[in-house]
Amino acid sequence: MTSITTNLKLAEPHTPGNDLIDARVRGYQARIESVLEAALPSATQVPQRLHAAQRYAVLGGGKRLRPLLVYCTGEALGVSVDVLDAPAAAVELIHAYSLVHDDLPAMDDDDLRRGRPTTHRAFDEATAILAGDALQVLAFSLLADDRTAGAVPAARLQCIRILAEASGTGGMAGGQALDLGAVGRSLRLEELEAMHRLKTGALIRASVSMAAACSAPLTEAQRTALDVYSQDIGLAFQIQDDILDVEGNTEVLGKTTGADAARCKPTYPSIMGLAAAKARAQELKQRACGQLRTLGSRAEVLAWLARYVVDRRV
Ligand code: IPE
Ligand code: IPE
Ligand code: MG
Ligand code: MG
Ligand code: MG
Repeated sequence: MTSITTNLKLAEPHTPGNDLIDARVRGYQARIESVLEAALPSATQVPQRLHAAQRYAVLGGGKRLRPLLVYCTGEALGVSVDVLDAPAAAVELIHAYSLVHDDLPAMDDDDLRRGRPTTHRAFDEATAILAGDALQVLAFSLLADDRTAGAVPAARLQCIRILAEASGTGGMAGGQALDLGAVGRSLRLEELEAMHRLKTGALIRASVSMAAACSAPLTEAQRTALDVYSQDIGLAFQIQDDILDVEGNTEVLGKTTGADAARCKPTYPSIMGLAAAKARAQELKQRACGQLRTLGSRAEVLAWLARYVVDRRV
């Protein structure tokens, strides 16, 4: 299994101070691994095969970008890290479920994910469908059951609302429906952007919003800055995903490149060309980082993540 720390290829140029941020990011990655491990049902418990598939889908590597956003937004806002475990794990469970279903033959029909056979390949299609279903429900049950000191019921309810909205037809699932409906068609740029904002941007935005919901009340300026930041990096993340599908390396990425073109998917590079897609991602990164001034120096870790989202090769 690919180890998590090697899977996050730190793309930042080496500048003074970055070692400290690297260490904090790695600390959050290690933390989410154990939170997820503890949250998932044991593979020795009935139904064993289903539980094994859930564990395979979640614990098989991945950058853990969404949990990192929860923890790092919390750090920028001075929220106690204990309060953030449930939202961080919940959004990663939804993300993992979305990947299991995204890879199914009825959707993108992919065989490789995180450097290993996709869940339906390692198990079978029916088990993969059920594993996705069960991961989705587990995410909400974690949020509802969170007994962490400081996680006040109003904040937990708000997290449930945020995650539900971002996962449903107004978020990830809706975006996936638009993605499937767009196969073989050429979208206008506004349509492509709207699809990306839903299928990928919504969960990234929700990661930041859930951490903000756990914080002491924010000013209007802080709330707006975080919202623009999260929407910009959410879109930039999918643009970079589209770029890596064209010029990335299957071994490094852990998923088969060239899949979008093979499946006639409209993407940023296919619609505007590689150079313009890269320029758009850079522009979104700059704007996202500019927003963080309102939050002061504690938000430097969020600027680091914005750069990572666009400069990554994984
Ligand atoms: C891949 O997400 C699917 C998209 C939403 C673009 P990630 O690139 O975050 O996948 P993992 O979790 O690191 O494997
Ligand atoms: C997937 O987008 C988005 C979701 C899973 C919601 P892609 O289909 O581009 O993701 P990859 O490239 O398979 O990881
Ligand atoms: Mg897809
Ligand atoms: Mg896919
Ligand atoms: Mg992709």
